Amino acid sequence: MKPGKAIPLTLGGLLFLGLAFVLLGTAGVATWEYTNSNAFCTQACHAVHPEETFAHLASQHANVHCVECHIGRMSTFRAAIEKSGHITHAWGMIVGYERPLSAPSMPASRDSCEGCHTSNPHQHNSIRIRRHFASDEMNSETKTTLVARAVGRSFQGGGSPGVNWHIRHTVRFATSDPQRTDVLWVEATASDGTVVRYEDNARPASADHAAAADVRTMECIDCHNLAGHPVRAPDDLVDEALATGVLDPALPEIKARAVKLLEQRFQDAGEAREIVLRAWDQYEKDFPNEKAANAEAFEQARAYLEERQNQMAMLMLRNQFLAADISWRSFPDQLGHRHSPGCFRCHNGRFSSADGQQITAQCTACHSIPVVTRRDRLHGQVLDLTDIRTPRSHQRPDFPFVHGALAAADDAGCDNCHGEIRYGKDDATFCANSGCHDSKWPNFGLQRPTAAVSGEP
Ligand code: HEC
Ligand code: HEC
Ligand code: HEC
Ligand code: HEC
Ligand code: HEC
Ligand code: HEC
Repeated sequence: MKPGKAIPLTLGGLLFLGLAFVLLGTAGVATWEYTNSNAFCTQACHAVHPEETFAHLASQHANVHCVECHIGRMSTFRAAIEKSGHITHAWGMIVGYERPLSAPSMPASRDSCEGCHTSNPHQHNSIRIRRHFASDEMNSETKTTLVARAVGRSFQGGGSPGVNWHIRHTVRFATSDPQRTDVLWVEATASDGTVVRYEDNARPASADHAAAADVRTMECIDCHNLAGHPVRAPDDLVDEALATGVLDPALPEIKARAVKLLEQRFQDAGEAREIVLRAWDQYEKDFPNEKAANAEAFEQARAYLEERQNQMAMLMLRNQFLAADISWRSFPDQLGHRHSPGCFRCHNGRFSSADGQQITAQCTACHSIPVVTRRDRLHGQVLDLTDIRTPRSHQRPDFPFVHGALAAADDAGCDNCHGEIRYGKDDATFCANSGCHDSKWPNFGLQRPTAAVSGEP
């Protein structure tokens, strides 16, 4: 047999091939990287997602790229196939996008959220503190404190699994809208295979309605739907502005006025500013006393308000997006039940099974009884939750070592705030706190650690 004719390869040819390979490879990697970037996701198609982009920056996931949730963690090969499926989005550039957008191609939580979180993410109950301001003249402040029972009740153990119930069981449900707010029926499968189907007994689904519904298995994003880009209701935004001092709670009626302002609809940034200006004009007219009382203070207030105008216009823009009819209203928050049904989509007292089992509507299945505190009224048991100014004595750094002696003074007045002064460890009074008096903390106190303690093997 004749040997095959070798292709003559000169050194120049080899170099050329090598160079072409490197160039093509680099271009390929660069393109791949670009299609993974937030810039690609948010700008390549004429800024189609202004609302998510904006909200994403203010989220806990600001440094998590869009693709890490929307395509997820998978092999590059699979990701390339998934991504090519997203080419259908290009059609939206031609015919326009459906509003509000939904994310039908969102991968299962296992491939997105669980790339970073585990499938058992609720490991502890946590205390949630929400500061609210009333829509009255004083903008009266209250603080709501509750323990979110993600892992259940601490005293009742296994009988009450908290939010983890949904992780340990499979919950399927039918919805008729893309944001999954309208729930028609719910089906729960226990680990032993028992299936319970709950129907809305106040509004049984008609056959047509049920047939048109989407059925899905509940996962992370059915509760944490705003995790990537939280859009907040005006009421919450203004509460935050007042709590952080962006707005001054000393201004009469400011809470009510600001919320009303943020709830208005507008067409563009110019109109937003116009609405703010008009609202402040009206505010000055309605509260003219400040001007009459003291010209200098009023001037100061005016300058302050002017600065606030910009803040307010920014708040408005943050809250309402300049796309046809999109605003905070378009993004229900399914994690609680304050401004949208959230957990009450199912836990609303209406769903029950044929044999009468109900989906619980007990407030304390999900969290402790909310404790509402105010600066001017104290609950004896919850002093610590109020953040009120404590007496000077409490601010000494060595207070734990001297408070007993201080309390012993005749005119101490400790009982004004702490109620009956009775010592012990039975937790019946403020002072009989076993958390403080029934323990010895290593290294705490006047004694220095001995060599025996610090030098132990
Ligand atoms: C690339 C990694 C990554 C991915 C993917 C990811 N997360 Fe996170 N997530 C984090 C990190 C890191 C934090 C902690 C942020 C912090 O505390 O500053 C966090 C925090 C959270 C929190 C707590 C935030 C809060 O407000 O208390 C929730 C809830 C959450 N993630 C849900 C999700 C859900 C749901 C998904 C899927 C849609 C997801 N995460 C996808 C990394 C990720
Ligand atoms: C049935 C609704 C529901 C489902 C499903 C759900 N969560 Fe949660 N998750 C909650 C609630 C309620 C909290 C507590 C909220 C709070 O503390 O304000 C929470 C808290 C969290 C936190 C914060 C934990 C902390 O200690 O601060 C993370 C992270 C989280 N969830 C991730 C996930 C992931 C990942 C999944 C999917 C595997 C998931 N969740 C499924 C309702 C849910
Ligand atoms: C932490 C995970 C996470 C990140 C990061 C993330 N998203 Fe999302 N995104 C979600 C979840 C969860 C939904 C709701 C899906 C659902 O309800 O089916 C969603 C929904 C959307 C939707 C549908 C409309 C809506 O808001 O519900 C768009 C559009 C979107 N995301 C774009 C983006 C863009 C653009 C980025 C990057 C700037 C981004 N997302 C980053 C988790 C994320
Ligand atoms: C799609 C329907 C659905 C949604 C939405 C939903 N759940 Fe559930 N949940 C169920 C079903 C079904 C059960 C099991 C029946 C029961 O125990 O009440 C359950 C059980 C629970 C339990 C255990 C109840 C017990 O007996 O101790 C807790 C806690 C809980 N859910 C919290 C939440 C929280 C918090 C949210 C919102 C973030 C939420 N659920 C949203 C369907 C839902
Ligand atoms: C199925 C679970 C569930 C049930 C039942 C439930 N809640 Fe909640 N609730 C939540 C979750 C989740 C949050 C959000 C916690 C957070 O702010 O992070 C919440 C928040 C709250 C808040 C704080 C709102 C705020 O922002 O100040 C109050 C008050 C409250 N719930 C009262 C109630 C009352 C009263 C009931 C009984 C009628 C009830 N809840 C029943 C899950 C539930
Ligand atoms: C004006 C109300 C008020 C009075 C009067 C008062 N306390 Fe307190 N005390 C508080 C509050 C509020 C806290 C919670 C501290 C915090 O949250 O920082 C507290 C906390 C404490 C603590 C907990 C330990 C610590 O370091 O915070 C001790 C002990 C205590 N007080 C003892 C006393 C004694 C002794 C007196 C009398 C000499 C006294 N208190 C008078 C309001 C008061």
